[in-house]
Amino acid sequence: MSTFKNRKLWIDSRGMPVITTTSNGARNAEHWGWTPAIATPSEMAGRMTGKVLDPTCGARMMWFNKTDPRAIYGDQRTETHTLCDGRTLNITPDVELDFRELPFADETFRLVVFDPPHLTNVGHSSWLAAKYGRLLPSWQDDITAGFAECFRVLKPEGILIFKWPEVQVPLGDVLACTPEKPLFGHTGTNPTTHWMTFMKDASPDHHSDKETDA
Ligand SMILES: C[S@@+](CC[C@H](N)C(=O)[O-])C[C@H]1O[C@@H](n2cnc3c(N)ncnc32)[C@H](O)[C@@H]1O
Repeated sequence: MSTFKNRKLWIDSRGMPVITTTSNGARNAEHWGWTPAIATPSEMAGRMTGKVLDPTCGARMMWFNKTDPRAIYGDQRTETHTLCDGRTLNITPDVELDFRELPFADETFRLVVFDPPHLTNVGHSSWLAAKYGRLLPSWQDDITAGFAECFRVLKPEGILIFKWPEVQVPLGDVLACTPEKPLFGHTGTNPTTHWMTFMKDASPDHHSDKETDA
């Protein structure tokens, strides 16, 4: 429990994230010349012309630097929750948005990371829903619109990273929500979490073979 009480994130002189877990963290940081991983106003300004979009950032648990100046963090909600172990979960996006209708121009970002809710069957007030949100009955339409929006705001040949924990909905069902095909991916365990890598095709007729086959 106390291991994480003093947990702090810093950026070292090479720009790499460093986590300290003891009350000596600040002293170590001063000694080694690390800076707190909190965005300065100029970083914030830089972020608004960001190269990376995370439209479902939640509590940014997967980010090493939760205020990376290259990224714009979006989510549909701004909320704070106390989890069952007493930790606080802060969902504080830069921009409140809906991934089904992103408030950005076409071809804005080099990289988009899409980690939508993956649970259809989850209690409204459960900690799982607080952390990950939940899929609505309209999830197929929602994820279809989400994929289309992610590809729309990507630059030509931009990269989409899609994360899918295969808990209740099979990966194949969710990949059926986009005509795009992933290049490669990685599957982890506990739960079975898939990371899929897509590249936006720059040619206007890249789905034509699919259309002729149909
Ligand atoms: C699986 S969680 C993301 C976890 C996050 N990647 C992290 O590292 O902590 C999915 C998030 O999508 C958000 N979300 C659900 N529907 C959305 C929508 N239509 N537009 C934007 N965000 C949405 C939820 O609020 C939730 O925070």
